Amino acid sequence: MLITIEGIDGAGKSTQAEKAFAVLKDSFGRENVIWTREPGDWNGGNLLRKLLLDTELSHPLSELFLFLVDRCEHVFKVVVPAINEGKIVLCERYTDSTLAYQVWGRGLPLERIEDLFLWSQFPVPDLTLWLDVPLEEAIQRINSRGRLDRIESDGLEFLSRVRDGYLHLRDRFPDRIRRVDASESVDEVSCIIRQELKILLKD
Ligand code: TYD
Repeated sequence: MLITIEGIDGAGKSTQAEKAFAVLKDSFGRENVIWTREPGDWNGGNLLRKLLLDTELSHPLSELFLFLVDRCEHVFKVVVPAINEGKIVLCERYTDSTLAYQVWGRGLPLERIEDLFLWSQFPVPDLTLWLDVPLEEAIQRINSRGRLDRIESDGLEFLSRVRDGYLHLRDRFPDRIRRVDASESVDEVSCIIRQELKILLKD
């Protein structure tokens, strides 16, 4: 089982992932659930994360390919082995991030990137929780964290295109992608997520 958490920067993914992880551990046991994230959450991935977020990359394809390198290592070292062991994988950011950021954000072609996903045999998530937060709120949260990384520095217009991307993806895959109103309080959002997880995992 693969569950992903998505959303623009500042949507509160990590806070909610932590809570969702606790819910899943309570229901299925610590040894049956893993919590991971992209980019970088694999042995050696820190270097790539740093390269992606702190280095000036002059071409959108460089960014795309680096995210895909990261995903190949992460998926085949961490995600697929865990799924094969029957674990529930909770992953912050995944293929929808690439579509929202690199297609809608940077203008790269959707079909080609979807082909690459198919060719790479990345597993498709069973459920994607899209934390949707108003842009102004996201920007406020990002700014309050202090130093911005390369992608966070791209500003409101970029983030607005990325949000449009998530909206399109939700409309395209309504059964897989659930929009969660992340402007509610942390507890309310976590309650909505708990319900979604219950529905998914009840069988
Ligand atoms: P992340 O560390 O999740 O940032 P945050 O916690 O602030 O949301 O992700 C790092 C950045 O990488 C984020 O701005 C989104 C971007 N990203 C892409 O552009 N494409 C991708 O495929 C992935 C996985 C992330």
